[in-house]
Amino acid sequence: MNHFSLEKGELYADGVPLERIAQQVGTPTYVYAGATLDRHVRVLHEAFGRERRLICYSVKANSNLSLLERFAKAGAGFDIVSGGELQRVLKAGGSPQKVVFAGVGKTRDEMVAALKAGILMFNVESAEELKALDAVGQELGVRAPFALRVNPDVVAQTHRHISTSKASKFGIDFKEARALYAESKVWRGVKAVGLDFHIGSQLTKLAPVKHALAKVAKLYRELGAAGLHLTHLDVGGGIGIRYENESTPTLQQWAKAVLEPLKGLDATLVLEPGRVIVGNASVLLTRVLYRKKQFIIVDAGMNDLIRPALYEAHHEIVPVRPRRGAKRAVDVVGPVCESADVLGKKRRLPPLEQGDLLAVMSAGAYGMSMSSNYNSRPRAAEVLVDGDGYRVIRERERIEELWRNEV
Ligand code: LLP
Repeated sequence: MNHFSLEKGELYADGVPLERIAQQVGTPTYVYAGATLDRHVRVLHEAFGRERRLICYSVKANSNLSLLERFAKAGAGFDIVSGGELQRVLKAGGSPQKVVFAGVGKTRDEMVAALKAGILMFNVESAEELKALDAVGQELGVRAPFALRVNPDVVAQTHRHISTSKASKFGIDFKEARALYAESKVWRGVKAVGLDFHIGSQLTKLAPVKHALAKVAKLYRELGAAGLHLTHLDVGGGIGIRYENESTPTLQQWAKAVLEPLKGLDATLVLEPGRVIVGNASVLLTRVLYRKKQFIIVDAGMNDLIRPALYEAHHEIVPVRPRRGAKRAVDVVGPVCESADVLGKKRRLPPLEQGDLLAVMSAGAYGMSMSSNYNSRPRAAEVLVDGDGYRVIRERERIEELWRNEV
């Protein structure tokens, strides 16, 4: 559910007409509905319960400081993948004790910064990484808390670019993980505190999740029986959302599927949801520049929202003030000099004229955070709506900022 709706023939974000934001802030602009963000965090907390659960919002989905601050105030922790994300979380007032640090390629400097900040745990992806972490821990005279990210080897049934099958670079197989936990018991710079997995993103089916959980819960018990006292089980993120007509399980169904196999397990459950919190809470506003053949050329491009070009992802495209008249199939494309610069292909849209405003829906996750300056295009502005008001939470990038670090 989200707070974007047509009222009196025009699209609103909560109590604010999107046309007003576009006029005042310009386009392209990402608009977030605060009420939708709050609702998603609240519903997740309700579905999973608050006892021995930690919801670590996955910063990579959208790292705007105002959103992070909002989530921190709502009690969330954070799932980070870089030193940059760590600093964002700290800057936004997030609690380091609720931070988990994932990723296959953490550098020494990133490890040092995270250890000094006092994060909850490092989700470690290889034996060499664990050795490196041990060295850092010894140097700082502390034992770095870690979980091993295992690969449960299930088919995630999602897009090939965002599933993390056994052939991918992610995770450690169970056999190696058992050996590594055992071996590292005597290392002085690390301490095993958890077990972690993540099978993919935009998951719309529960079966792979249940399958993976059954395997990982069994491993968690086994490790306990072998004398390893873990306290945290991190089940990753990946809860899918509706972009087009996907049927997705409710959050209550997710919670049931996750919690049932873990019954009786002595563990704090860690979740790393990203997309499900921010995805449907934002639209990308863009104006029609020109029309030519079947093409509607708009002022947002693949540098602003790369998902359609990169994954053939579908985002609904809705005119903010739909005109009357017969719909026709159009390709909505951006100004970037690439044939892949498409926001939507073969969309049946009502008549469009130059200057018309379009909303690209469900753009909150991996939209702004994956945007770039390709074609020397300044990055979009971001706006947060609360009730009848809004504020700019990221200024549109200025042209001079494009070469700030260049000589
Ligand atoms: N935890 C781990 C270890 C992850 O790798 C990810 C996402 C998440 C949590 C959060 O997953 P979510 O709940 O957002 O599905 N750029 C792609 C998605 C890449 C996901 C990468 N990992 C897209 O635009 O669809």
